[in-house]
Amino acid sequence: MREDLNNLQKKYTAELNEATSLKKLDELFLKLFGKSGEITTFPKSFPSLPKDEVKVIAPLFNKTKQELESALEKRREEVKLAGFKKILEEPLGLKDVSSKTLDKIPSKKREGHMHPITQFEEEIVHAFAKLGFQQFEAPHIDSDTYNFEKLNIPQEHPARDLWDTLYIDQTYLGPNPSKLLLRTHTSNSQVRIMEKFQPPIRLMNLGRCFRYENVDARHEHTFEQFELIYIDKGLSMANLLYLSEYFFQAIFGYDVKARLKPKYYPFVEPGAGVDGLCIFCKGKGCKICGGVGWLELAGAGMIHPTVLKNGGIDPDIYSGIAWGVGPGRMAMLRHEINDLRLFNSGDLRFLNKF
Ligand code: DAH
Repeated sequence: MREDLNNLQKKYTAELNEATSLKKLDELFLKLFGKSGEITTFPKSFPSLPKDEVKVIAPLFNKTKQELESALEKRREEVKLAGFKKILEEPLGLKDVSSKTLDKIPSKKREGHMHPITQFEEEIVHAFAKLGFQQFEAPHIDSDTYNFEKLNIPQEHPARDLWDTLYIDQTYLGPNPSKLLLRTHTSNSQVRIMEKFQPPIRLMNLGRCFRYENVDARHEHTFEQFELIYIDKGLSMANLLYLSEYFFQAIFGYDVKARLKPKYYPFVEPGAGVDGLCIFCKGKGCKICGGVGWLELAGAGMIHPTVLKNGGIDPDIYSGIAWGVGPGRMAMLRHEINDLRLFNSGDLRFLNKF
């Protein structure tokens, strides 16, 4: 029996050392420790042996069993490691490309161009520059004060819901830091402009705005706005109507009538929704204007006396016009695009069309 055990150990140790794959090791495992494996079945003869013999052979069997088990485990690790090494040392199989071959590969020349909205904005800026409006920059990250408070939208005012935005976490600045946020509209330029300049003022502000928005085909969380601020003596809604018609005609290139309808914006009084005669059906009523014949294109109004005061301008002497539009929406109309999200998609199939 002792010899049998010895032979068994020798035979399998040799086989284990020769095995070079995990599959082969699995086979050896089954031959030894499987249901009818040689180690599993070995003790079956113990009951027929004399007790003295069992006393000697049983511990020897256990020792052999353990040694084979650990030899198997050790070999398994060695085979695994050899496999990893082989992968690491394998050449990548890249073809040697000489510079001559490279020269023969034709390179596509791609010319960039301005983003469709940027193109559109250039036209808007150009049109109003002709009327003497100059550009003004307001920060994208702004304080609650300029984006809301000074525009007659105090804390807790329900109108804030319309302009919900993303706030900058400033807890590290202490308990009551001034609130910073991503500006929700270019109207954040209004009071800054008044603080900086004396009337007559003709300025325009263009740029990115941000909202905590339910994104869909007509709403984006990041979008462009354009704002006009015109402050002088004796301005009225008639000037506002003129500016609106001037804008539509400059952008759509023909006689687009504008009409004003009352609309609430806290920083203007009266406030107006500015409609343009539908450019698709010319007022007859179609799918795009919902049968109304008009499209609401801009928001505007006479600057609220409180806002003028907040900017240090006397509302008894001066009046002001504030006028805002979303270039993205306008570009959608002009190019008949049905999804605002395409503009920020970075999809060249779309962008290359402009
Ligand atoms: N800031 C407004 C918005 O984001 C748009 C707007 C409305 C601008 C009326 C104006 C205005 O200047 O007078 O919805």
